[in-house]
Amino acid sequence: MIEWIQPAKRLLQGVLLMSLLSAGAAQAAPIDLIIDTDPGADDVVALLLAMASPDELKIRAITTVAGNVRLDKTSRNARLAREWGGREDIPVYAGAPKPLLRTPIYAANIHGEEGLPGVPVHEPKAGLAKGNAVQYLIDTLGKAKPDSITVAMLGPQTNLALALIQAPEITKGIKEVVVMGGAHFNGGNITPVAEFNLFADPEAAEVVLSSGVKLTYLPLDVTHKVLTSDARLTQLATVNNQASKLVVDILNAYIKTDMDHYGMPGGPVHDASVIAYLLKPELFKGRQIHMQVDSREGPTYGQTIADWHNTLEQPSNVMWIDSADAQGFFDLLSTRLARLK
Ligand code: BDR
Ligand code: CA
Repeated sequence: MIEWIQPAKRLLQGVLLMSLLSAGAAQAAPIDLIIDTDPGADDVVALLLAMASPDELKIRAITTVAGNVRLDKTSRNARLAREWGGREDIPVYAGAPKPLLRTPIYAANIHGEEGLPGVPVHEPKAGLAKGNAVQYLIDTLGKAKPDSITVAMLGPQTNLALALIQAPEITKGIKEVVVMGGAHFNGGNITPVAEFNLFADPEAAEVVLSSGVKLTYLPLDVTHKVLTSDARLTQLATVNNQASKLVVDILNAYIKTDMDHYGMPGGPVHDASVIAYLLKPELFKGRQIHMQVDSREGPTYGQTIADWHNTLEQPSNVMWIDSADAQGFFDLLSTRLARLK
């Protein structure tokens, strides 16, 4: 008996190991990613983190939208980030110059007139890709394999909303949309209840929400828990390359307003959490919930209503992330920045 039990056991172990390895190999395939963004200080940190992670993220394109500043500036800043990341191969498509319906709003008070505080800006060598971001989204998602492309939304959701309005069938190509936006537990940052990206185009957020795509939201609930500190800024500075110096200079200028406003010991790096979530979801915790966007005129315009305790007994429509391993985030950011020049 024992003579055949041992080889059979070894065979079983071998089969188990092979299946574990093939599962690991499948997980290791890079995420096919489009980053939609309005750089923006924290957007640039997010872009650098993404560009420093080519093993996990295959960035197909960066699409830009008006948000923190006007579209010409967000598009220039995206191209600057691409230059700093040494990734001029990634096309940058400019998209919507204004929201679907509302009057445009900007956040120069936080991001500076150029949309990039703390560092000098210049006109990057490489230009924009020909064509428009909305058409790019329609063409790319329309032709993609089912459930294959992830869209990271780091600004107002205007581009994807316009694409979905014109070609609703593109949802088929989308694996997941991961949004920085919204606020529930501790209120907003542009009004007492609304977060900037949602307030800047709530109608667009509603279009994306009602399209039925798989959605993950990283709201202020989580980004206000992932704060800089002197020690964490020193950790980033210790990397001591061009990318880390840029990030430290940008963050030092960017975090001041929020620290003063909220009396917090450090500042958030909102959009970079979306990229960190794609790279290391185990750093984050959340819950599948039902969420609504308020687009009625009045004091709750742009508010996200997150039914955390399922009071409405409605089917869930988003994964709402509410907490994170903050030090894990800064460890990830500093080790990845060290890979850039
Ligand atoms: C969000 O608004 C913008 O100002 C930031 O870039 C981030 O996307 C935070 O509310
Ligand atoms: Ca942004």
